[in-house]
Amino acid sequence: MGSQCHVESRTSPVISLPHREAGSNSARPVCDDVAPDLAMRPLRIGRVEFVSPAVQAALSGYSDWPMRLISRRYGAAYAVDEVMIDQFVLDQRRRRARTKHVFRVTDEDHPIGGQLMGADPELFAPAAVRLVEAGFDVIDINFGCPVKSAVGGCRGGYHLGQPEKALEIVRRVRDVVPSEVPVTVKLRRGIDDSAASRDRFFEIVDGAFDFGIAAVTVHGRTVEQKYKGPSRWDFLREVKTHVGDRTVIGSGDLFTAEACVRMMRETGVDGVSIARGSIGNPWIFCQFDALRNGNPLPAPPAVREQADVLREHFALAQQCYDERRSVGQMKKFGIKYTRLHPDRAQVRDAFVAAKTPEEWRSVIDHWYHDDRPGQYPHVDETTE
Ligand SMILES: Cc1cc2nc3c(=O)[nH]c(=O)nc-3n(C[C@H](O)[C@H](O)[C@H](O)COP(=O)(O)O)c2cc1C
Repeated sequence: MGSQCHVESRTSPVISLPHREAGSNSARPVCDDVAPDLAMRPLRIGRVEFVSPAVQAALSGYSDWPMRLISRRYGAAYAVDEVMIDQFVLDQRRRRARTKHVFRVTDEDHPIGGQLMGADPELFAPAAVRLVEAGFDVIDINFGCPVKSAVGGCRGGYHLGQPEKALEIVRRVRDVVPSEVPVTVKLRRGIDDSAASRDRFFEIVDGAFDFGIAAVTVHGRTVEQKYKGPSRWDFLREVKTHVGDRTVIGSGDLFTAEACVRMMRETGVDGVSIARGSIGNPWIFCQFDALRNGNPLPAPPAVREQADVLREHFALAQQCYDERRSVGQMKKFGIKYTRLHPDRAQVRDAFVAAKTPEEWRSVIDHWYHDDRPGQYPHVDETTE
């Protein structure tokens, strides 16, 4: 039984997904989430129009070149690299060997956003120029990261508490980046739930659009909240209503294709930024495409199809990293892919124990040999 998720040419940068047959045995009809009304809504960032509103979110430690390519092959129209600190970008010439993978952008990896985080408005601008030179199509400014080292270093989500400085960063970046390159901003809904925090959020969003940014991505959690509790989608609806025709991409709790459809419907956002829900589950992109084109939800990929993608993902990781790092990286991903396997716990243990490429491949040969049906990941496992 195939997942009915079609993979476009292995090298083509253009993703076009087929319309799936309704009523097939291997597809689960989910009438409430079938969404032909969403099929015609393009996502636009500046002058770039995307074939689908599905975005591969920026994910530090994950949204590297191999993950982005796999996600694109399953339907992600746009992908954002892992966040980079401005100073790190500016120091690249010295550190190139160890970290050059973050600048890896190839022909089939477009359009791609390069995301920057920093404390000092003066460093942001030259770092943004460096990313444009490295081939990034969009510059995304991170005002959302809640991790201690970021906030403690006055970066990421910290800026939500200081609109003036945040807007200085936006202005400086917009001023130096060529006009045809869109600049966008990623934000959480505030530092906390106070009225002052909310006011600052809208001050930053309004000011940033006034300075010419092309879109915002809004994660409906606060910085204080980190990842606890739900992402407030009603806030996303407020933001979309507030900014009108300007582009808003929604983020938070997009663990299934049905959730992506629901977010677009309930909030009116123009696109969905799929984050934890896409790690080890690139099929979420084509499942979302099926639903938004009015087709039933495709079956989850069978075990052999999962094996093909795991092997491909590993082959891409080997092109990007040395042996030790590629196994380490694939261990993280392999564990996430096991959520789709019928013997999840055993396969997970096997991936955890694998230390060499040979051991890693033999886990796949052993556990992914019989072509059994796969399963949809349980939503509560997505956040593990
Ligand atoms: C491991 C991890 C790494 C992340 N890295 C980034 C990042 O580099 N840049 C960014 O803007 N957001 C980052 N995020 C936030 C996600 O893009 C997304 O906004 C958040 O996970 C909410 O979506 P979800 O609930 O659907 O996962 C990260 C999230 C996780 C879990």
